[in-house]
Formats: sequence, C-alpha cells, structure tokens
Amino acid sequence: MKHKASPRRRIAVAASILLFAASNAWAQVDEARAKKIAGGSCFLCHGERGESTSEVFPRLAGQHAEYVAKQLAAFQNGQRKSSTMASMVTKLTPDEMLALGRHYEKMSLPREEAKDPQLAAMGRYIYFSGNKFSGVPACASCHGAAAEGTASLPRLATQFSGYIHNQLKSFNKRERTNDNAVMHSVAEKMTELEMAAVAEYVSSK
Ligand code: HEC
Ligand code: HEC
Repeated sequence: MKHKASPRRRIAVAASILLFAASNAWAQVDEARAKKIAGGSCFLCHGERGESTSEVFPRLAGQHAEYVAKQLAAFQNGQRKSSTMASMVTKLTPDEMLALGRHYEKMSLPREEAKDPQLAAMGRYIYFSGNKFSGVPACASCHGAAAEGTASLPRLATQFSGYIHNQLKSFNKRERTNDNAVMHSVAEKMTELEMAAVAEYVSSK
C-alpha cells in the first residue's frame, strides 16, 4: 500500500525547502558582498589572498570567521584601538563582518620555515610547556597543538612573527583593550626573548 504524506506534512516540507533556498541565496549575497568589500579596500593591506603586504598588517587567511567578526566589531565600537582599522569598519554591518570572516577563513597559506631556527626551537618549548619558573602557561592549552585555534581563539599558525610579537607586547601593556584579561595575564609573565621566540615558532607552523 502506498503511503501518502499528509497535507500538513507536505506543507512543512515545502516550507523547509523554501527556507533552505532563501538562506542559500542570502549566503551567496553575503559572499558576493564580502568579496566586493575585501577587493575594494581590505586587500590594500591584508592582500588578495589574506597573505598581507607587510608584517604590520596581520594575515587573515585561515583566521576564524567568528574571531574576525568579533575584532571588526571591537574596532568599530572602539574597544580595540587602531586608528587604521577604525576608519575601515565605520560602515560595516554585523552580517558583513561575519561574511568577511567567512571570506578569509576559506583561504590558506603555505607553511614557511622559521628564519631563526634556534629561536623557533626555544619558542616551541614555551608553546607546549610554558615557563613553570615564571608561571607562563603553555600556549597550546588554549590555541591548540597545531596553533589553528577555534571560533573564539585566534589562529596563530602562518601569522607574521612581527605581528604576534607586537600583539604580545600590547597585551602586556594593556594597549590591546578588548577582551585582554586572559592574554594580559599570559603576556605580563613573559620576557622579551620569550615573546620573540614563541612568535618565531608559531609563524612557522
Ligand atoms: C590601511 C591598511 C589596512 C586596511 C585597508 C585594512 N586593515 Fe585590517 N588591519 C590593519 C592593521 C594595521 C591591523 C592591526 C591593528 C592592531 O595592531 O591592533 C589590522 C587588523 C585587522 C584585523 C584583526 C586581526 C587579528 O588577528 O586580530 C582584522 C580582522 C582586519 N584587520 C580586517 C580588515 C578588513 C575586513 C578590512 C577591510 C574592510 C581591513 N582590515 C582593512 C590595517 C588595515
Ligand atoms: C587560557 C587561554 C590562553 C592561553 C594559555 C594563551 N592564550 Fe593567546 N589568546 C587567548 C584568547 C581567548 C585570545 C583572543 C582574545 C580576543 O578574542 O580578543 C588570545 C589571543 C592571542 C593573540 C592575538 C592574535 C591575533 O590574531 O591578534 C596572540 C598573538 C596570542 N593569543 C598568543 C598567545 C601565546 C604566544 C600564548 C602562550 C605564551 C598564549 N596566547 C596563551 C587565550 C589564551
């Protein structure tokens, strides 16, 4: 005997197909919008493939969408201070911020060898074991063994060492003002050499 779907069930199925099509269409609109914004301004500093044109500008390739959206919102509301970025985000909506994050999250960069292998070796130790004498925790316990992070934890792998080093210094001095409690307590225990070493290591991951 043939089983016929009840009219109610058929309506529910039709509605969910429509909803799926609509959300798909929105995703495409968002993607096109993100491409337009990124290709219109962001690429000047962050590069066409998120590779960035200088160590002063963080690489965005492979960075997590939610983390990117969070930082863009913080630049916009002034919680994270950067005169350069503040002027880039004035008109962005929350949807566009997330779409930009998704745009960059899909990209990836090849791994690069550390320029100073000995410094990187010291950084590797700190990354996985911290410094038990001064209380620096192991970075891997939060950022992960591969330094790829998660939605709320930034990816550090393939990032420029110069940028990482700078951020550690600004967490230490509390110049990076958005959500800095955890990273301030990490960075305040670190020496200049440890910061440089761990930055050298993660950039080559
Ligand atoms: C004129 C250069 C410039 C342009 C154009 C620019 N940025 Fe930036 N961006 C920077 C600098 C410099 C920083 C680092 C700020 C700091 O040190 O806190 C940054 C930081 C960021 C960060 C934080 C990354 C992290 O790892 O925490 C994100 C996300 C970002 N930019 C996205 C964008 C997007 C999206 C656009 C386009 C709408 C854009 N930027 C345009 C210079 C630029
Ligand atoms: C207890 C968890 C925790 C530990 C341990 C930790 N971090 Fe972080 N780290 C975070 C969080 C959370 C953020 C994101 C802050 C935000 O959302 O603005 C962050 C952000 C960062 C950033 C900024 C990245 C960017 O793209 O701007 C750097 C660099 C960083 N951490 C390096 C390190 C290093 C190096 C170590 C080890 C010495 C370390 N972290 C240990 C939680 C941690």
